[in-house]
Amino acid sequence: LHVAVLMGGLSAEREVSLTSGEQCAQALERQGVRVSRVDAGRDLANVLSGLIKPDVVLNCLHGAWGEDGCVQGVLETLRIPYSHSGVLASALAMDKNKSKAVLKAAGVKAPGGGLYDRHEVAARHVIEPPYVVKPNAEGSSVGVYLVTEGANRPVAEVGEPGWAYGEQVMVEPYIAGKELAVAVIGYADGPRALTVTDITPTKGFYDYEAKYAPGGSVHVLPAVLPPAVFEAALRQAEAAHVAMGCKGVSRSDFRYDDVKDDLVLLEVNTQPGMTPTSLVPEQAAYAGMSYEDLVRWMVEDASC
Ligand code: DAL
Ligand code: MG
Repeated sequence: LHVAVLMGGLSAEREVSLTSGEQCAQALERQGVRVSRVDAGRDLANVLSGLIKPDVVLNCLHGAWGEDGCVQGVLETLRIPYSHSGVLASALAMDKNKSKAVLKAAGVKAPGGGLYDRHEVAARHVIEPPYVVKPNAEGSSVGVYLVTEGANRPVAEVGEPGWAYGEQVMVEPYIAGKELAVAVIGYADGPRALTVTDITPTKGFYDYEAKYAPGGSVHVLPAVLPPAVFEAALRQAEAAHVAMGCKGVSRSDFRYDDVKDDLVLLEVNTQPGMTPTSLVPEQAAYAGMSYEDLVRWMVEDASC
């Protein structure tokens, strides 16, 4: 078995992907699998079909191009089995705004708010603070701003000429309370939610640093929640996985306002991180699946 591990890529999450990919490559090598590490660039089709000729692709890319259906389309065209979700689910999940309609139709509560012109968002409060401003199609909290209650200044950064994350930005009411995550694996045999993790950033919100700096956040799993809320998070993550058409592993991120008893699904990630601080490997371990088992399963589950 020869596995090409796709990593790096062209997005703002390149560094995260290099870490995810390297961890996965080593886990396969520990199991005696032949691995080629592929830093995915625009020549990906030629590299895979002309040079590497793998049996299977393990896609460890995050963000634009690698997680949004584009690379999945290349792999469909080449007819190389690949891990994780296909073209449609990947493209849909990467678009946070379009995802909301599908989640709502599946009975899963998504955040309010919507897309606004970035210059408008930079000039005034388009909704009442506290609110969150984020790119419609990025991951790892890249370009995310929290505008706190009583703040008198909007997010000037999104209006700057160098803003690289689209002319429209997502503005959502901030949901106080807890940050929760649920990993889901499987599809054909029915999706299975692993557990719920409660994430507390060491300082500020769950931003890029809190996600990847060692000690940047504290993870409690299984999360300590009212049983009905715990159960709802599991079932909603599974419903979201199915409604979005995901395959392999996905991870749904929630906010839970414990004062209002309100559970809201922020987004579904189709290429969740596999770094040492990432949530999915931790949940898999809790469910009795080692990192090696998880990566092996991803490879076995690959299709095109
Ligand atoms: N976008 C990062 C990699 C995640 O969802 O884990
Ligand atoms: Mg994300």
